[in-house]
Amino acid sequence: MVNVKKFEVEQASPHNQEGKWMDEHETWATHNLAETCCASVSLQDLIALAAVDADSATATTDPDQRMAGLINYTTKQTYGSIRGSSTLRSRIADLYDTTAGTIGGANSVLITNGAIQANFLTLYSLLCPGDHVIVQYPTYQQLYSVPESLGAEVSLWKWRPEIEGGDGSGLDVQELRGLIRENTRMIILNNPQNPTGAVLSRRTLEEIISLARAHNITIHSDEVYRPLFHSLPESGPENGGNPPSILELGYGNVVATGSLSKAFSLAGIRVGWLASPRAEIIDACASSRHYTTISVSQVDDGVAAFALAKPTVVNLLRRNVELARRNLALLAEFVDEFKHVVSWVKPAAGTTAFIRFRTKGGSGEPVDDVEFCKRLQERKGVMFVPGRRCFGDSVDFAGYVRVGFVPEHQVMVDGLRALREFMAEEYDSVPAAAV
Ligand SMILES: Cc1ncc(COP(=O)(O)O)c(C=O)c1O
Repeated sequence: MVNVKKFEVEQASPHNQEGKWMDEHETWATHNLAETCCASVSLQDLIALAAVDADSATATTDPDQRMAGLINYTTKQTYGSIRGSSTLRSRIADLYDTTAGTIGGANSVLITNGAIQANFLTLYSLLCPGDHVIVQYPTYQQLYSVPESLGAEVSLWKWRPEIEGGDGSGLDVQELRGLIRENTRMIILNNPQNPTGAVLSRRTLEEIISLARAHNITIHSDEVYRPLFHSLPESGPENGGNPPSILELGYGNVVATGSLSKAFSLAGIRVGWLASPRAEIIDACASSRHYTTISVSQVDDGVAAFALAKPTVVNLLRRNVELARRNLALLAEFVDEFKHVVSWVKPAAGTTAFIRFRTKGGSGEPVDDVEFCKRLQERKGVMFVPGRRCFGDSVDFAGYVRVGFVPEHQVMVDGLRALREFMAEEYDSVPAAAV
């Protein structure tokens, strides 16, 4: 049996009731503030988003017809295009700035069942036992547990919120330099980062690339929360000022993964991708993919292509950036009101915030985050994700919880009201973390 660790944030097992979190808790949460997707949309919502060109305020040609053109009732349901339709792959390629000449259209993209499969295929295809990888941390557990299961040695490049200066991402490139070894094969980034919502600036990415180039290291960047840049100055879809993807900086030895799940509100269609300027990387991943996935559903491919066509994609991202800003403003009010026990680095992008809770008065020690989350959900129905349980059992994360702040606005309003009640009635009895 493959020696892969339990996926703490997701896994449910009838044999082991400890460890799982999302699966067990989301079924009975009244106020789910643990979700990492922007509030999901239906096909009907998508058709409405396709109906108006927001920039010229004019109606577009019949969106129902266009959807029907992509998901044709008379199309025979064969395996379809093995790597994903060229329409979908081109629309994904168009999400990137191709002026750096690194990514070249549909052939640079491989469609997968979500970013989770894109990440898995990249790691499975490019790593060997004995390789060394460096992983930005904390992050989605898949990104360090899969390399470990493949026999790679893993070093964690740790987020330190207290770092002064820098680009606000809490990462120190000098530290990364010190982690590189002779057998370092891959640097794994998660940009924007789950759970902190931090973003790596252009300058930091260029420094990472310069180290990778000097040591011939592949960079794998999980960009599943891209392009939800809601809180960086001079960024956002409305002014085209987004920070770059790893694909846009002229380095060929890279893979970026992405998905329709998070910034595009369509987790249910299970469409993700990996993209790389190097044909050998795409071919290696396509070759391993043959053993697990012949193709992604034609229907899902059609919905994804429809969502990524203009003006739908522009309207969808605008909706989500606005929702993220509106909800984050409410969360920021909460953090400010409770600043005697609560602290954070405000997220710049993505859908999650990593917030630390401390006991009142005295030494203000971090609370036991698992106990806090359990009691909060039992008493008030509010679901968070405990940091120490789900992002590695490190004392660094004692007292941290991950909050997903881009559900429907009313969910946020009601969830924060219930959280405030808990703070008034029960918070004082939450124990400090054992460190
Ligand atoms: C960083 C990161 N990568 C990948 C995934 C998987 O996303 P998908 O739904 O596209 O498979 C997640 C889901 O939470 C995530 O947070």
